[in-house]
Amino acid sequence: MNILVTGGAGFIGSNFIHWMRANAPGHRIVNVDALTYAGNLENLSDIPADGAYAFVRADIRDRAGMDAVFAKYDITHVVNFAAESHVDRSIVDPEVFLTTNVIGTQVLLDTAKRRWKTAPDDKYSRAYRPGVRFLQVSTDEVYGALGAEGKFSETTPLSPNSPYSAAKAGADMICRAYHETFGLPLNITRCSNNYGPYQFPEKLIPLMIHNCMEGKPLPVYGDGMQVRDWLHVSDHCSAIYAVLTKGVPGEVYNIGGNNERANIEIVRRILRAFGRDESLISFVRDRPGHDRRYAIDNAKITAALGWSPAYTFERGMDETIAWYRGHTEWISHVLTGEYAAYYERMYG
Ligand code: NAD
Ligand code: TYD
Repeated sequence: MNILVTGGAGFIGSNFIHWMRANAPGHRIVNVDALTYAGNLENLSDIPADGAYAFVRADIRDRAGMDAVFAKYDITHVVNFAAESHVDRSIVDPEVFLTTNVIGTQVLLDTAKRRWKTAPDDKYSRAYRPGVRFLQVSTDEVYGALGAEGKFSETTPLSPNSPYSAAKAGADMICRAYHETFGLPLNITRCSNNYGPYQFPEKLIPLMIHNCMEGKPLPVYGDGMQVRDWLHVSDHCSAIYAVLTKGVPGEVYNIGGNNERANIEIVRRILRAFGRDESLISFVRDRPGHDRRYAIDNAKITAALGWSPAYTFERGMDETIAWYRGHTEWISHVLTGEYAAYYERMYG
């Protein structure tokens, strides 16, 4: 496979590139990333730019740029991670969520269609080069919020509540249309909240770990009883590989960690790991439109592709906390924007 990984300098994308090199070597990976505030090439500093890996700084909304990447590297597979990914930022400034998450995805789909169709000018043809595949990395947040009971399955109606999840749902819909109308071989994966190494400390787990390390207050939104279904990023990577290699074209696969926790439980778990008491917890005003509960039903991907999560929450949290403790320089670079200087030194 010649795999275009978009957003490969972000949290999950960089973990996926590491995971592929360790677990499924022998494929070429081309990492296209615009290096927004969330993209950090330090995440990949141990990976040499050789025949098996290339980095291209480009924006997925750039049609000519994406076409040039497909042509130069003879791309056969796409894993589209590139997105604006933070709900709180989408509440402050929604527009870039629409242009990157929706239009950017459509640009990639269109480039793949033109490059992969065997008769690109025949609008009735649904024939593609053998083996090609487009994988859209989506989120369980497109399904909206759950009450105390039930889980999201692939047939749960989409009902997004934040500008972030609405934009991700828009991307899912345009993917669906490219499959239905043009026959583009693609899959959509919808995963629950990820955690693990290299996550930007604006998201719950790394933010709370960092604040604990600094002895700063831990800002818990509302009553802290919102529930997320936590998935270790390494389990997410193995699921993506399973879908990329074995998924049935046109199918959606949910990916969850079988691991529902209330936010306050996570925060207490982190406090205990640092030997801190609960006086650091600071209940703050709730997020507008805050989804109460997410939970994923994994039955389809487990039955169809034989995937299930390997991490227990205890092991995942222990490893994650240890990783952030051992990477204080990484955290300080991320928080100071030092990685922008790193890019200039490396590529400038
Ligand atoms: P992230 O914010 O850490 O990384 C996003 C990456 O995309 C960054 O490297 C950024 O520079 C890049 N990017 C942003 N806009 C771009 C553009 N226009 N062109 C090219 N690159 C651009 O995000 P993440 O947490 O790694 O999430 C990756 C994907 O997984 C996203 O699509 C997100 O919606 C989805 N997802 C994430 C989670 C989670 O818990 N983190 C859960 C479900 C789904
Ligand atoms: P987050 O990591 O932003 O992921 P998402 O909103 O995509 O689920 O938040 C996870 C949960 O933690 C969510 O219910 C909001 C809550 N939260 C806090 O209570 N305090 C915080 O400072 C942050 C960032 C999140």
